[in-house]
Amino acid sequence: MTYQTEFGGGWTQRKLEVLKKYLQAYTRVFERSRRAGFYKISYVDAFAGTGTLRRPGLGGLAKYFPELENDEREFRKGSVRRALEIEPHFDKYVFIEKDAEKCAELSSVSAEYSDRKVRVLNEDANSALLDWCRNLDARGERAVVFLDPFGASVKWEVIAALGQTRAVDLWVLFPYFAINRMLPRSHRPPKSWADRLTSIFGTDEWESCFYATTAFKSLLDSHRIESVRRSADHRDIIDFFVTRLKREFVDVSRPFPLHNSRGSLLFILFFAAGNAQSARLGLKIANDIIGKSIDS
Ligand SMILES: C[S@@+](CC[C@H](N)C(=O)[O-])C[C@H]1O[C@@H](n2cnc3c(N)ncnc32)[C@H](O)[C@@H]1O
Repeated sequence: MTYQTEFGGGWTQRKLEVLKKYLQAYTRVFERSRRAGFYKISYVDAFAGTGTLRRPGLGGLAKYFPELENDEREFRKGSVRRALEIEPHFDKYVFIEKDAEKCAELSSVSAEYSDRKVRVLNEDANSALLDWCRNLDARGERAVVFLDPFGASVKWEVIAALGQTRAVDLWVLFPYFAINRMLPRSHRPPKSWADRLTSIFGTDEWESCFYATTAFKSLLDSHRIESVRRSADHRDIIDFFVTRLKREFVDVSRPFPLHNSRGSLLFILFFAAGNAQSARLGLKIANDIIGKSIDS
């Protein structure tokens, strides 16, 4: 898919920079505030990858421009490595990845940070997160969860469960590109796509919001004819997701759109604050970071 050919490039870096800045601010708040310092804090990366972004090598260039090599090393750091580098660090890290080989790489990256408490789970993110939510002690724990799938793989029940913990700050990538492709313009989606969309949005109301039906009588035999067309544009689709997110979380940040080099909208990164007491501060920090990244 288009967005994988650029993996590791512009929009990936912007996404990871925003996440890292937020994680940095988050652990500082918990270190500095006595009230916040009461909580044990976790970072959960549910589509963790390997800790390293796959990009073509620099080849012969590296020899002539050693500074490029340093930049490249920074560029190649995935979300896991960037999270592990944060100081002050989290009390616990949970990395979920369904690919066993990638899990082995995650374990060796984690071993480089021997003072970090890390669990690597070779599981499906949706079921592992539901388990994790059930075991979270919201009286003494807070967490940042990052959902960074390639496409439309996060089930709504997982987002709802994260919100209901009232202890999670969520960074979630809304897969606009994949969803847009499942919403044909001149007819409703086939059943398998419709089921998928219902599982992503957690409701089948998307159908009446995104499609308009016009009925008219046939001139030939007075039969009723119905024509269906998609009435929703990209703003309606994004607003629908934000409205859903706001039902489960205290509040949601401004959108951070991620386009590929051809200008196509691939994903939108959102921050959602789950805890009423910390939501205002969390939102302020997230919106500031997003605002500066959009302007830069
Ligand atoms: C976009 S990549 C993550 C990149 C990572 N955040 C980084 O910055 O390096 C998505 C990852 O999710 C994994 N994945 C895909 N479906 C999954 C699932 N259902 N559960 C857990 N991991 C999954 C893929 O193997 C892939 O490594």
